[in-house]
Amino acid sequence: MIRTSLCDLLGIEHPILQGGMAWAATAELAAAVSNAGGLGIVGAGNQPPEVVRQEVRRTRELTDRPFGANVPVFTAGVEERLQVFIDEGVQVITFGGGTAGPYLGPLRRAGICIIPVVASVALARRLAREGVDALIAEGMESGGHVGDVATLPLVPQVVDAVDIPVIAAGGIADGRGLAAALALGAAGIQMGTRFICTTECPAHDHYKQKIVRAHDRATIVTGDSFNHPVRCIRGPFVRRLEGLEREGISETEFLDYGAGRLQAAILDGDVKEGSVMAGQSAGLVDDLVPVQELIDRIVAEAETSIRRSASLLAS
Ligand SMILES: Cc1cc2nc3c(=O)[nH]c(=O)nc-3n(C[C@H](O)[C@H](O)[C@H](O)COP(=O)(O)O)c2cc1C
Repeated sequence: MIRTSLCDLLGIEHPILQGGMAWAATAELAAAVSNAGGLGIVGAGNQPPEVVRQEVRRTRELTDRPFGANVPVFTAGVEERLQVFIDEGVQVITFGGGTAGPYLGPLRRAGICIIPVVASVALARRLAREGVDALIAEGMESGGHVGDVATLPLVPQVVDAVDIPVIAAGGIADGRGLAAALALGAAGIQMGTRFICTTECPAHDHYKQKIVRAHDRATIVTGDSFNHPVRCIRGPFVRRLEGLEREGISETEFLDYGAGRLQAAILDGDVKEGSVMAGQSAGLVDDLVPVQELIDRIVAEAETSIRRSASLLAS
């Protein structure tokens, strides 16, 4: 058994979080992860508060274990959705895509465990000073919105900078990744891309197959010039977007062009004209499995990996 401070903080069996992914992290996926001993996270994306409320309630029907909810800071109506989480008694909230600082007060008063995503040491230090409970250090290998530091250098620097548990994210899809994250000083991992390729994730099969077929260099980051870098698997839409960005379209045109594309890919399976957000770890994913099987496998692989590393020590 691998137990870390994160297991105690969250009341979970394995130090594995499922990333709160817009459109993909539904009640079914979150509950399956929590039932398998990790922490499932319901993704709010930019959905209206009432839809989010129903998802949280459905998750509670499907699991009696701890689960969390995620809100991306760059979306509109963050406060309204946070109020839903407070009203519904969600125990853990993760924040993605920006600084969570302005939203912490009411969550702290409600006794909620707050875990923002950070992509830099400076933001990690600031949020730790503001009293968050743990941090997700997410490297630029990850799927979706990304920073510009890779996981391998980011995680130990964040670990050294703060004295709260740090969760490694970005580029992790198997037990070797979990073992590596623990070796870097992390107390656990968060995975997004790997959890999309599970039976319980509602993403369209075309989306899942695109990840399964992806190789190591299948992803690309667009939006750097507008400070909205997003990692996706290459395809006709992303190639056009890349070309338009190079030709110098305006930020508004760029954002309008990308609107609704993730939804189209995940829900409708339009992987040509939609945005197939996924991380470089897509190259490591080569099957679709039930969540329980995936988590059991990752934990067993991590244990083997840690034993193998220990065996390298000269007696
Ligand atoms: C399709 C997709 C959608 C995502 N949406 C969100 C989101 O809404 N909020 C968030 O905090 N992170 C989001 N992420 C990031 C994940 O939560 C997670 O941190 C990331 O996927 C980890 O890297 P990996 O893809 O290499 O596992 C998303 C990732 C993907 C692949």
